[in-house]
Amino acid sequence: MNRKLRIGIIGAGGIARSAHIPNYQNYGDAVEVVAVANHNKEKAEDCAREFSISHAYEDYQDMLREMDLDAVSICTPNAFHAEQAIAAMESGCHVLCEKPPAISSSDAEKMEEAASRLGKHLMYGFHFRFRPEVETVKRFIDEGEMGEIYAAEAKWNRRRGIPGWGVFTNKELQGGGTLIDNGIHMLDSALYLMGYPEPKTVLGVTYDKIGKRPGVGLLGEWDHENFSVEDMARGMIAFQNGASLLFESSFAANIADKDARVLKVMGDQGGADVFPLTMYQEKHDTLLDLTPPYVDKGNAHKDMVHHFIESILMGQKTSGHTHQGTLVQRIIEALYESAATGKAVEM
Ligand SMILES: NC(=O)c1ccc[n+]([C@@H]2O[C@H](COP(=O)([O-])OP(=O)(O)OC[C@H]3O[C@@H](n4cnc5c(N)ncnc54)[C@H](O)[C@@H]3O)[C@@H](O)[C@H]2O)c1
Repeated sequence: MNRKLRIGIIGAGGIARSAHIPNYQNYGDAVEVVAVANHNKEKAEDCAREFSISHAYEDYQDMLREMDLDAVSICTPNAFHAEQAIAAMESGCHVLCEKPPAISSSDAEKMEEAASRLGKHLMYGFHFRFRPEVETVKRFIDEGEMGEIYAAEAKWNRRRGIPGWGVFTNKELQGGGTLIDNGIHMLDSALYLMGYPEPKTVLGVTYDKIGKRPGVGLLGEWDHENFSVEDMARGMIAFQNGASLLFESSFAANIADKDARVLKVMGDQGGADVFPLTMYQEKHDTLLDLTPPYVDKGNAHKDMVHHFIESILMGQKTSGHTHQGTLVQRIIEALYESAATGKAVEM
């Protein structure tokens, strides 16, 4: 490609400003962020000024029509992802869409269908896959060092981390709470390390014991009066290949840690705790703990955005495989369905 990649941003809020725009702009000369759209025009203009972006739009459709874009980042509330991603692909763009893919599995399926029909990259914002700890464990698994991964645990619990900004506690706009927001990162990372097996049976439970009343807000003051999502989700997923995954996440729970992630994989030849990283093996009649003396902190958002750019420039598949986004969305929907009905969901 001779000209610069022309990037547009839809949604000029927190993640666009902290992760997407700076990491397009630090890629170098091959890429230029040429426009930003936000349904609140002032926000679009403010963002354009802050990042020296030449065009600001109120209506993202006008941006798609007028700016001759090659790719867009979608950084809006979850309920808008599907419509905006499909419109962007239909206008000829590749798409990096923030997680979750959508608020329903039927929307995620439509997005996957559009990407395949139109031959576009559709990558999701699963940046934890780009964490050095996850990449290291993936390399060990891919080299067969852990054998068959048959069990995993994925948790992200916060003591009082209900987001106080945006619309994270609004079910209509987000599709849910902690499960679809922070929980999805650990779910995706575990599934990624397990090789994304096909789910068979899903059992989920959700709670809203803390979010509906006022309290100490370690991520800002949340709107407890209009809190319509779950503040805790727990579940178990059994897969068709016999593997199983235990899941738990919370925006708020009465636990010791302010914010704690647990990601464990267990194989028949070895296993790992990913955060912090230690791997477990048995060799020559000896049980071993393998802890790297140094793990680079990395910059997962940067690596994710640069991977998206390079996938376009080199015409290669993105690692946030579109179909895996659909699968994780189906699992999330089944966890919510199981929580609502009190019954396990057969997939
Ligand atoms: N990968 C991560 O670590 C991570 C972190 C935070 C948020 N996110 C995801 O990013 C998305 C946005 O989250 P955020 O924290 O940036 O929220 P935010 O509220 O800070 O920003 C959202 C922006 O979208 C704008 N917007 C709302 N509806 C719109 C529409 N229909 N068209 C155009 N613009 C619209 C809002 O005005 C706001 O500027 C969510 O999907 C969230 O799940 C991902």
